[in-house]
Amino acid sequence: MAARERSLPSDAYDADLVRLGEMRGQPLAFPLLAGGVGDGAHVQLADGRQVLDLVSGIGPYVFGHDDQDLLETAAIAAASDVAFQGHVLPGPEYFRLCDRLLRHSGEQLEHVWLALSGSMANENAWKMILQKRAPAERVIAFEHAFHGRTIAMAELTDRPEYREDLPIRDIVDRIPFYDADDPDSTQRSLDALDRALEAHPGEHAAMCFELVQGEGGFNDAPPTFFRSLMERCRRAGLAVWVDEIQTFARTSELFAFRTLGLDDLVDVVTIGKILHGSATLFSADYRPKPKLVAGTWAGATVGMAMGARILERLEEEGYLGPEGGIARLTNRLEDAFGRLAERLPGVVTARSGLGAMQGFVAWTGDRAITEEIVTTSLEEGALFQTAGANPMKIRLLPPLTLTEGELDAGFATLERALRRVAQRHGLPIDSAGA
Ligand SMILES: Cc1ncc(COP(=O)(O)O)c(C=O)c1O
Repeated sequence: MAARERSLPSDAYDADLVRLGEMRGQPLAFPLLAGGVGDGAHVQLADGRQVLDLVSGIGPYVFGHDDQDLLETAAIAAASDVAFQGHVLPGPEYFRLCDRLLRHSGEQLEHVWLALSGSMANENAWKMILQKRAPAERVIAFEHAFHGRTIAMAELTDRPEYREDLPIRDIVDRIPFYDADDPDSTQRSLDALDRALEAHPGEHAAMCFELVQGEGGFNDAPPTFFRSLMERCRRAGLAVWVDEIQTFARTSELFAFRTLGLDDLVDVVTIGKILHGSATLFSADYRPKPKLVAGTWAGATVGMAMGARILERLEEEGYLGPEGGIARLTNRLEDAFGRLAERLPGVVTARSGLGAMQGFVAWTGDRAITEEIVTTSLEEGALFQTAGANPMKIRLLPPLTLTEGELDAGFATLERALRRVAQRHGLPIDSAGA
């Protein structure tokens, strides 16, 4: 009933999209207005159409849309006198979220500081590290890294167009991410790290890691690659800072650094998205002095309650661990990709990702073609996203509750979109058994 009352006729929907674009000063990335209801991986749009959301709204909808338990949790939290919680008068939701997080963060990360966005969690991480390591101020980051949209994060991010015409401080040194096609990849990155350290002796405060590069193209690497670099950083006195804003709850453990067995090497970790808020976790060594991190808000009461409940359910409902629900979904996604690659051998030319973060290159990964595949999939009823550039990939960040039916429907939609794009552009699509 409530959904029907909220739903818009299609001309009003289109007009709202245009008006929203005008108010924002730029159109939405996708022509999608949520209707406030859904069903599993399906989200209902404000005009009543259903879309299969295979990117969980860029991460957060870990149990899909309209999860009754989370809606109840949200409704109870919404009845609190305090709609948003600050660091001055925190409530039980703040306490519970911090407590649940620290149960999973391992022995080293003893502390947690909540914030409102992933970028802000990274800002707090950087401040804590800079204070501890002062006067060192340089940071090492990977090529293709993405760490957020504040001015500082725009510099740490390796996308020059995301900081066009902004002043930069020129304090970031980049090293290559892992390349599975290069047997010397780890050594190449270690050499680049050494060169940066030698070029600026004593000036580096930290290296920032994304264990699966999200926006950068769902690039993954073996644990030995990270271990070698982290050990080298530790020896040189650099903080090891891991940005898990996209990887959190996407690999078989809550934290990807734990999935990859790097617990002993990590000093500061940031998380967001699935948490419905964000947080910086840090070891005792990186505890900031009293006035360094603060701010009016720590998060919405609803977001904190949902974040804590999500953590509890991931644990109680068996999502974690090598045999858990995330690992099982990973196997199903890999099988589905395998079948797609068998059916369309010339189309799926590369695959990457870890856990419930999977991406692939269609043909050469040309930007315009890849964006067209995503647009065409959406016309066909399923939302995917792009990631990276040269090659650009198509990424899946599905809800962890994705059913067999939803998975099949998603891949069938993707295949239809690939065929339509192939036909339009005369691309090879040697199809086995179509
Ligand atoms: C790895 C990573 N870091 C940082 C961020 C920024 O988070 P937010 O958009 O919440 O500021 C993102 C967002 O996509 C991300 O994927």
